[in-house]
Amino acid sequence: MGIVFPLSFLLNQYIFLSSTNQYFPFVIPQYKEFLEVQSNLTKNLFTDYDPTISPVYTWIDVDQPIGYDSQAPKRWNYTVFLYYLKLVEVQEPEEKVSVVMELMEYWYDARLSWNTSLYQNTTSFYARQDNVWSPTLTVFGVNDIMDFRDQDNRMVAIDNFGFLWDYISVRISANCQMDVSRFPFDTQTCQIRFCLPIFYRVQVEILNEIYEGIMDENIFKTMGNSEWKLINLTNRVEVLKYNDNMGNMDLAIFEITIRRNPLYYIYMIVFPSFVINFVSIVGVFLNGADKMSRLNVGLTNIMTMTFILGVMADKIPRTGNIPLLGIYIIINLVIMLIAIAIVTAITELRRWATPKLKMKRSALRTQLEIFLGPPLEYTSAIILELMTCANFLVMVGFWFDDGS
Ligand SMILES: *[C@@H]1O[C@H](CO)[C@@H](O)[C@H](O)[C@H]1NC(C)=O
Ligand SMILES: *[C@@H]1O[C@H](CO)[C@@H](O)[C@H](O)[C@H]1NC(C)=O
Ligand SMILES: *[C@@H]1O[C@H](CO)[C@@H](O)[C@H](O)[C@H]1NC(C)=O
Ligand SMILES: *[C@@H]1O[C@H](CO)[C@@H](O)[C@H](O)[C@H]1NC(C)=O
Ligand SMILES: *[C@@H]1O[C@H](CO)[C@@H](O)[C@H](O)[C@H]1NC(C)=O
Repeated sequence: MGIVFPLSFLLNQYIFLSSTNQYFPFVIPQYKEFLEVQSNLTKNLFTDYDPTISPVYTWIDVDQPIGYDSQAPKRWNYTVFLYYLKLVEVQEPEEKVSVVMELMEYWYDARLSWNTSLYQNTTSFYARQDNVWSPTLTVFGVNDIMDFRDQDNRMVAIDNFGFLWDYISVRISANCQMDVSRFPFDTQTCQIRFCLPIFYRVQVEILNEIYEGIMDENIFKTMGNSEWKLINLTNRVEVLKYNDNMGNMDLAIFEITIRRNPLYYIYMIVFPSFVINFVSIVGVFLNGADKMSRLNVGLTNIMTMTFILGVMADKIPRTGNIPLLGIYIIINLVIMLIAIAIVTAITELRRWATPKLKMKRSALRTQLEIFLGPPLEYTSAIILELMTCANFLVMVGFWFDDGS
């Protein structure tokens, strides 16, 4: 009995509703009416609508300036609206930046507008995107674009003014020229550019906007990754100008400015090479060690620095200018070379001068002989250590100079 009752209840509902051509069992009257009005509306809208043809007005002479014909409608416009952006990765050697962009795009299609009072104030509805004409999102001059949406499940919203909008989630890998002269304290600027290809600029207009909500600091700081911090995000429209009117194109540009977090390079390269250099100078000038082991310390240090340079080289594009980190390491290398040169010179000098100084005894000669020993070496060592420290401090100074 307990089972039979709900079953028969459902059956009754079904029979009752099927007579009104609705199979959904609990339809309330207002909802039913809405569905009917909506179905009338869409039937009327789509009867003569061809989704393969665009609404762009083409009775325009493409050689004339924009808006020359006062009778013509305004340029058909298309807007890309940035809702969220996430930096995925930066590949410096290839000069590529990948971002995931959550976008809305909207445009007008006059054929999809209606008089709301004829349809009980229905102002909007949603439909499959296949049913309407939509512009193809095109990114200008990028490496790669990946649209995460399933081709068959794209939706679009339509309102009574013929205003249409949809949502896109894409991963874009853009090429951007990198300036690594301040590496690892560098800031890079990268552009993602959208365009409407094949249409003439006198016929269409592309616009872009950024959702104000994401400029909020708490949201903004989530858009970088662990190495790079997003510090600015701007939008503008620029004209790609050629000498003729026909080839000009509007580009909707989103520009991001990102700053590297240098901590990794500080503790992986800058600090260790400072320590190695500091200790090596002590080793090279160590009193009592023989000449060969002093040279060994110096050469090992030079090899280490060269290796560190190699590690750095993998992270930067092969551009003409030497990055700060490279200059720092090269200075360390030069300091080490000077240390080796001084030690060798002093040793040779002493070997050459001692017999001569010993030939005739005088106070000055004795003092000179003493000076050619440890005092000269210590003085040089201290000067070179100070240079190493200064080099390190200047390097770290750039970090604070960065203002972050
Ligand atoms: C829908 O259109 C049909 C045929 O034109 C009409 O009979 C019906 O009343 C309309 N329904 C509504 C809710 O407007
Ligand atoms: C875009 O086109 C629509 C419809 O033609 C118009 O109402 C709107 O003002 C245009 N927007 C801009 C920014 O020109
Ligand atoms: C919309 O339809 C109503 C009712 O038929 C009519 O009175 C009104 O003028 C129409 N509005 C426009 C803008 O055509
Ligand atoms: C539509 O909106 C107008 C103005 O708000 C209102 O007077 C009218 O009653 C509404 N019609 C329906 C069917 O809801
Ligand atoms: C972002 O860039 C714009 C345009 O270049 C600039 O006016 C603005 O001051 C920048 N904002 C920050 C926080 O750097």
